[in-house]
Amino acid sequence: MACYISTENEMKTILTGIKPTGMPHLGNLLGAIKPAIELSKTNNFDNSIYFIADYHALNAVRDPKQFKEDVYGIAATWIALGLDVDKSIFYKQSDVSEIFELTWMLSCMTPKGDMNRAHSYKDKVQKNIDAKKDQDQGVNMGLFNYPILMASDILLYDTNVVPVGKDQVQHIEIARSIAQRINEHYGEGTLVEPKEKLQAGAGAYIVGLDGRKMSKSYDNSIGIWETEKKLKKLINKITTDSSDPDAPKDPDDSVIMDLYRLFATPEQIAQEEAKFRSGIGWGYAKADLFEVVNAYLSRPRKEYERLMNDKGELDLILKNGAEKARQIASVTMDRVRKSMTGF
Ligand code: TRP
Repeated sequence: MACYISTENEMKTILTGIKPTGMPHLGNLLGAIKPAIELSKTNNFDNSIYFIADYHALNAVRDPKQFKEDVYGIAATWIALGLDVDKSIFYKQSDVSEIFELTWMLSCMTPKGDMNRAHSYKDKVQKNIDAKKDQDQGVNMGLFNYPILMASDILLYDTNVVPVGKDQVQHIEIARSIAQRINEHYGEGTLVEPKEKLQAGAGAYIVGLDGRKMSKSYDNSIGIWETEKKLKKLINKITTDSSDPDAPKDPDDSVIMDLYRLFATPEQIAQEEAKFRSGIGWGYAKADLFEVVNAYLSRPRKEYERLMNDKGELDLILKNGAEKARQIASVTMDRVRKSMTGF
């Protein structure tokens, strides 16, 4: 059994956070959720920590009802897809108050210039400048300080490894450099310096309904928890050419086949490719795609619905997770507080 209390140097900890931003889509499932769940099943780490970065979302979400629903939705998603909440530590950020205390300590050791150079803030500023607006228009301090809150998420658990996508690498570098600065001043070992681990296939992307990268902002995505009916409808909307139904089709040049491969077994893939080569109508190809996607999701979908109809169970899981998390967090926080203030 994993030990949640000791934070000795030989402990190996892996941690990743998930921002709740509405229903995740198939691209999120295959690019982030599935690889992380698979990682949680390996026994390479003493502590596997997965958390819902709910307060990270507060810099943009203004509706408490939506906020709460999104938090439950993402918790149910991870559990329904197989995250083992006994083997790992799963909680929501806002339940661990130490994170926000450490955020302040780290803020006091972070040069403002480093935050000016953080990509997401810099991009926003550049957009404002291009639009001839005030450069900080629409920027709240939550957005500006985002990387420090994220550093706190990571450093609080003496995390060694953080699996992330490419877009988050700079945030891990910032966390590492904050830890280095604190260690230089207050002594080696005050904080563990974390490393990023690029998710397998991080460069690849899942195509959406229109053939571009699947993304909420392109309005071309397929949500994980759509009803069967809606799922079928969305798959039928995938853009195809007007070639004759009997005409042979190239299985290596088809959005439908690309998606099919992600959900089917090797035998199913070989059969479908053969159908493509000998000629298949798009309507039939889409029906085949629906079959494999739906087969993959139908059991988790039932579990998701069950959990969303019983928030009490989710509350209990998150509360247990927060208790485990705080056992580690309080030890680190005491150590950092002592180093920085003497108390
Ligand atoms: N910023 C991450 C994202 O938007 C979410 C996140 C918050 C995170 N804190 C983290 C990821 C700590 C890894 C580690 O995807």
